[in-house]
Amino acid sequence: MDKLLIQGGHRLSGDIVISGAKNAALPILCAGLLTAGTLELSNVPNLHDVTTMLKLLGQTGLEVTQDDHRVTLTGGAIDKLEAPYDLVKTMRASILVLGPLLARFGEAKVSLPGGCAIGSRPVDQHIKGLQALGAEITIEGGYIYAKCKKLKGTRIVTDMITVTGTENLLMAATLAEGETILENAAREPEVTDLAHLLVAMGAKIEGIGTDRLVIQGVAELHGAKHAVISDRIEAATFLCAVAAAGGDITIRNTRTDILDAALDKLREVGLQMEIGPDWIHAKMDRRPTPVTFRTTEYPGFPTDMQAQFMAVNTVADGASRVTETIFENRFMHVQEMNRLGAHIETDGNTAFIQGVEQLVGAPVMATDLRASASLVIAALAARGETVIDRIYHLDRGYDQMEVKLSAVGAKIERVKSSK
Ligand code: EPU
Repeated sequence: MDKLLIQGGHRLSGDIVISGAKNAALPILCAGLLTAGTLELSNVPNLHDVTTMLKLLGQTGLEVTQDDHRVTLTGGAIDKLEAPYDLVKTMRASILVLGPLLARFGEAKVSLPGGCAIGSRPVDQHIKGLQALGAEITIEGGYIYAKCKKLKGTRIVTDMITVTGTENLLMAATLAEGETILENAAREPEVTDLAHLLVAMGAKIEGIGTDRLVIQGVAELHGAKHAVISDRIEAATFLCAVAAAGGDITIRNTRTDILDAALDKLREVGLQMEIGPDWIHAKMDRRPTPVTFRTTEYPGFPTDMQAQFMAVNTVADGASRVTETIFENRFMHVQEMNRLGAHIETDGNTAFIQGVEQLVGAPVMATDLRASASLVIAALAARGETVIDRIYHLDRGYDQMEVKLSAVGAKIERVKSSK
């Protein structure tokens, strides 16, 4: 397993270009299952999760070609309506093939994703919604078996706001008969990006960007061209890195209109920013001010940024409190940050952080994607050397993070494992 070796205590300086959003790319790739036509996608990030998704889609018979950040998908010869356990277990987003396969082919067999490091993460809302659209669903031997003649539009109110749940039901509804109303829909920009692609494919969707999506089903969808939205989590992660380690960076190819919650907190931290429509120039030359926050659905503070802001808080000048409301077990980074000399205690879903003047490098272990990113940030701010083990988590969701950080002066190196 590869490791990252980081010599902390160096200021960051230079430009970082942000990649396409993982959590937009994954559902968008699954939309390729909805049409016999061709999707020409650009700004697709180079990530393990994208590779896994393309492998999964390829197994269904979807034709896939990939050239750097461009992916072309043609769905004329899909003949295997299945997502097997060995792929689903490595990536929960595989559940996103369920809605499209069922809607277009009337059948799908998808392995149930298990729990994961950040929580139990059931998919009951995906199933409940598809049943409301008329699917017959049975669960047997760890697989979801779904069948229908033709999905029929209806009104669906999910019990909670779910991002991939909304995406699955939205994709299914585009090919259902009649009108579907999705109440309590997730408003994340990644859902909106998927909706824009679906409209380009011929879907009829109103209320895009709101919590009430109204879909008029169409008989079929066609090919389209689409550029995946810029990754807001990647952008905010690099801004946290400069807030914690100090320096002067410009991030480019970003979308500042979808970063409000993170930018508000970064201002509170003391990051000085000049903001254009697709760039942010950020400067930090003092110790961060601690920030207290709760994670919540978009447009609130994203759970996917909780760990990275906690890393900033560990070196801030004072105490802060972080409450995680979306996932029940998303504090796996706390023990590892404490190994670097942070002072964090947790009580249920709240972490209490007492900032220290200086973290000190140590060997630590990455536990999930965003926890890994937070350890990189802490290591950049720490004095001395940190070795982060199990960085395959990082590779799942960040496009060449260490290359981008090296280019702005971080002393960071990937140590390849021999096995
Ligand atoms: N939930 C249920 N039942 C369901 C669906 C969700 O109980 O059927 C619960 C979850 O267990 C969780 C909450 O509802 O407590 C919200 O989960 P959601 O379904 O919104 O999460 P997700 O769709 O599985 C996506 C992102 C996550 C991100 C969350 C929240 C993708 C591929 N994944 O997950 O991204 O944290 O939304 O914003 O879009 C990451 O990128 O590191 C990551 C984990």
